[in-house]
Amino acid sequence: MIDKIKQLKDEIQQVELTSPDGLERFRIQYLGSKGTVKSLFQELKSVPNEQKREVGALMNELRTLAEERLQTAKEQLATQTQQGDQLDLSRPGGPESVGARHPLSLVRSEIIELFERIGFSVSEGPEIEDDWHNFSALNFPLEHPARDMQDTFFIEKGEKEMALRTHTSSVQVRVMESSTPPIRTISPGRVYRNEAISARAHCFFHQVEGLYIDKNVSFADLKQTLLYFAKEMFGEKAQIRLRPSYFPFTEPSAEVDVSCSICNAKGCNVCKYSGWLEILGCGMVDPNVLDACGIDSKIYTGFAFGMGIERIAQLKYKVNDLRLYSENDVRFLKQFTPGI
Ligand code: PHE
Repeated sequence: MIDKIKQLKDEIQQVELTSPDGLERFRIQYLGSKGTVKSLFQELKSVPNEQKREVGALMNELRTLAEERLQTAKEQLATQTQQGDQLDLSRPGGPESVGARHPLSLVRSEIIELFERIGFSVSEGPEIEDDWHNFSALNFPLEHPARDMQDTFFIEKGEKEMALRTHTSSVQVRVMESSTPPIRTISPGRVYRNEAISARAHCFFHQVEGLYIDKNVSFADLKQTLLYFAKEMFGEKAQIRLRPSYFPFTEPSAEVDVSCSICNAKGCNVCKYSGWLEILGCGMVDPNVLDACGIDSKIYTGFAFGMGIERIAQLKYKVNDLRLYSENDVRFLKQFTPGI
């Protein structure tokens, strides 16, 4: 009896189980209701009492072995068919989905391109800045309330207190320190302010700031440059108007409105029925800033301006919730690239 069981064990181990039919035959032959294992158990009755324990245990082992073989063979067969499916070269191909450019990146490129056409270069700088480049060199005296206007994120970096830059004017300081006029540059980049996130404000956004320094640069040059920008960006009919304002680093300073391109300046809910939309801040670079950056303010003058890319994109694409730009919802993002 014991020999018979051992022989069966070898047999079960050696059987090849490679097809669903083979599996089913194996199951019926060994584990079915009239199968070998069942009939062995029936023979247990005739085994002498003193051998029953040993023989019974062997039979149990045999049954487990047969069940395990059946189970693993089943699993192997299932994964093989799955892989076979993946490799089915006759199946038709599915459409490839491609990415789209982010609307802010589209507008950023457009702004850069149209300033490059009139001779501006692009400069970049660090997002983590020291006090000098973000504030002091720009004529923000220590303890001056103007520093509070730009709710700053301060961070510690080693011994030094640093800040996340609140504007890319910091890049312009770096350019003025490291080059000599004439300077004509724009600085695009991400900036940070400690604001509660809502449809109209975010703790980070993007700017493009511009700087032009040479002999005899005047306010008229500034105005003409901004009019050129408005017409290129919003269409030939675009008009601008300048309102007096205050920035520590420019004197005189102005805020610039563009005629509302959504309603053709007739008045709508986006321009709050005024026909005008605010798009940027600007002014003549304060002589204190030039001197702080090593440029002789008796020889040179310059203008500077700064705009938010989100604001321009908002007017161009009529997006009225700032949060959409950083949520990365594919349904939103793919609307700005036609044909995908
Ligand atoms: N740096 C200003 C801001 O972030 C914008 C600005 C730039 C204003 C240059 C005037 C001149 O609000």
